[in-house]
Amino acid sequence: MRKPFICGNWKMNTDRKSAVALAQATAKVAQEVKGVEVGAAPPACYLEAVLAAARGTALVVAGQNMHNEAGGAFTGEIAGPMLKDLGCLYVILGHSERRHIFGETDEFISKKVHAAFKFGLKPILCVGEKLEERQATQTEAVVRRHVTAGFAGLSKEQAAQVVVAYEPVWAIGTGLTATPQQAQAVHAFIRKLLTSLYDAALAAEVRIQYGGSVKADNNFDLMSQPDIDGALVGGASLKADGFAKIITEGARAKKV
Ligand code: PGA
Repeated sequence: MRKPFICGNWKMNTDRKSAVALAQATAKVAQEVKGVEVGAAPPACYLEAVLAAARGTALVVAGQNMHNEAGGAFTGEIAGPMLKDLGCLYVILGHSERRHIFGETDEFISKKVHAAFKFGLKPILCVGEKLEERQATQTEAVVRRHVTAGFAGLSKEQAAQVVVAYEPVWAIGTGLTATPQQAQAVHAFIRKLLTSLYDAALAAEVRIQYGGSVKADNNFDLMSQPDIDGALVGGASLKADGFAKIITEGARAKKV
C-alpha cells in the first residue's frame, strides 16, 4: 500500500513569521489527517524554524534542493549532510525551475539523487515536459529521459524510496492544471517504465505525486486517479486553510 503524500513547496516565499505560522497550521493538519503523509519544503533559511514547529508532530520537512557534494567550495549551495543535520527527511531534486531557470542537467540531478541516499535523505524527483514538448507529442520521451536518468544506478531498495513528482511545466504556477485523465496517463506511463527498469512489485511501491496548479477544488479528482499518490503543491500550499483542504480532499479521494 502506497501511503498518499502531499507536500507543499514554498519556493522563494514566506518570511520567518509567516513560515512558522504556516508550519504550525500544517503540522496540526498533519496530526489530524492520519492516512496521508504531509510535508513542507520551506526556503532553506527558514528550515530550522519550520523544523522546530514540526518537532513532535507528523509534519515532515524537505529541502527544496541540495548540491551533490558533501561540502566544500560551492558558494551559495547547501549540502545533503546539512539538511540531514537539521532534521530534514526529504529533498526535492530536479524541480523544473532548477532544470529550466538554473540549467540543471539530468546528469547533475542523478548525482544529487545518489548523494541524497548517501546522506540519509529521500529524494522527491521532479519530472515533466514543457508545453512545446507536449505539443510535439514528446511528453513520454521527456518523462522517460527524466525518470531513467533519475533512477540510474539505484538499487531496488533505494528506488522504492524515491518519490516521483510528475509536474508538467506548462501547469506550474499557470493555473492550467493537467486534467485528471492527462495526469493519470503519464503516471501510468511512469509506473510501466519503472516495471521495465525494475519489476512490477517495485513499480507498485513507488509513490508518484502530481504537481502543477493543484488546488483545494481539483485535488479530489486528481487523487481519485489510481496512479496519483499525492501532490506537490506550490502556490496553493502558502495559504494554511487552502492547503488543509487540499490534504483533506486527498484523504477523501484515497478513502483514508
Ligand atoms: P504550483 O507549483 O502548485 O504553484 O503550480 C507546483 C510546483 O512547482 O511544485
